[in-house]
Amino acid sequence: MKPLNIGMIGYGFMGKAHTNAYAQANHFFESEHHPVLKALCARNKEKAQHFADNWGYESIETDWREMLKRDDIDAVDICTPNNLHKEIAIEAAKAGKMILCEKPLAMNTAEGEEMCKAVEDAGVANMVWYNYRRVPAVSLAKKLIDEGRLGQIFHYRANFLQDWTINADVPVGGAATWRLDAEAAGSGVTGDLLAHCIDTALWLNGGIADVSAVTETFVKERVNAETGEKQPVKIDDACSFMCHFDNGSLGLFESTRYARGHKALYTLEVNGEHASLRWDLHDLHRLEYFDHSDDSVVRGWRSIHVSDGDQPYMGNWWVPGLQIGYEHTFIHQVADFLKSLDTGEPASPSFREALETQKVCDAVLASADERAWKNV
Ligand SMILES: NC(=O)c1ccc[n+]([C@@H]2O[C@H](COP(=O)([O-])OP(=O)(O)OC[C@H]3O[C@@H](n4cnc5c(N)ncnc54)[C@H](O)[C@@H]3O)[C@@H](O)[C@H]2O)c1
Repeated sequence: MKPLNIGMIGYGFMGKAHTNAYAQANHFFESEHHPVLKALCARNKEKAQHFADNWGYESIETDWREMLKRDDIDAVDICTPNNLHKEIAIEAAKAGKMILCEKPLAMNTAEGEEMCKAVEDAGVANMVWYNYRRVPAVSLAKKLIDEGRLGQIFHYRANFLQDWTINADVPVGGAATWRLDAEAAGSGVTGDLLAHCIDTALWLNGGIADVSAVTETFVKERVNAETGEKQPVKIDDACSFMCHFDNGSLGLFESTRYARGHKALYTLEVNGEHASLRWDLHDLHRLEYFDHSDDSVVRGWRSIHVSDGDQPYMGNWWVPGLQIGYEHTFIHQVADFLKSLDTGEPASPSFREALETQKVCDAVLASADERAWKNV
């Protein structure tokens, strides 16, 4: 076994999801490489130590720059708010570290370009955590599309709906609500939620040529969590866009944090000449599939319970019929990263691939801003 010493930056939601994945991957997926929880970096020493003790990190750092200087760190995992991705990634590349970076890759395309150049100049392994590709049902959708079972694709539709910012008293900024602060997040639902939908769409259905978008900020002012002062809200609370894909199909995307009753409803549907498929994060192990070539008397939507050994990733888990969940998407992504180290094949999505999502996000925001169609 070759150790892969991990230096994790940030211990929030994603810090936990990734740490769990490093700890689990080798138990279920064979690889020559073996992640070691070497160092956890966070600014508050006590909290960092508590997390390190609880999750099994060997050491802590309170300054990510110090962590990058260490010879015993092979790979840096960036689990910080979006405004830190670029600086950490570029410095990590210069230090010769492999980099696993959370999504969205950057605040915008220009930053993403710099990050791509840095990892490519340094020749370091790199990957962005677009984990929804690794839901077995979504991977199965990819397989069915690539096999040509849907035929020509006409429509791609995706939604990502939440409701947690409807209350105007939710503050902006600070540790818990940095997503509402444009300085920390870059954008609102576009970079946070639609980025996932766009990454999956590019993976399943190919490139997006142009977009026409609308955005809205429903609550215009909020109190800053740190200063207590009111400030204008500069992120998009909601965004809808339509687009043309390079393959001629039409796309329709919607995301909002104002859809009362929806907590994290990511759904997608693809309609082709011969078949259609749809998927829903709230029922993530199921892929709905309609095949027009079925005998008409029994033709209808099938609900495929993706839990069998010959379905993506599932041969490595329990017996057929038993399902897995959200955290497994990260375990799959670590397993795929380790495999890429074993084989020498680049991990996917690389920074360069994730830059395509960033370009679509930028075109969407520009389109909404200028009320015009925008080429990607
Ligand atoms: N792949 C996914 O499904 C998914 C889900 C949630 C978040 N994300 C992405 O993950 C990233 C982190 O989001 P989160 O939900 O984990 O946020 P979070 O607020 O839960 O955690 C952020 C962490 O970064 C730390 N941090 C901030 N500044 C730091 C600094 N200068 N040095 C060291 N640590 C610092 C914070 O202390 C905290 O531990 C974001 O880019 C977000 O878009 C991805």
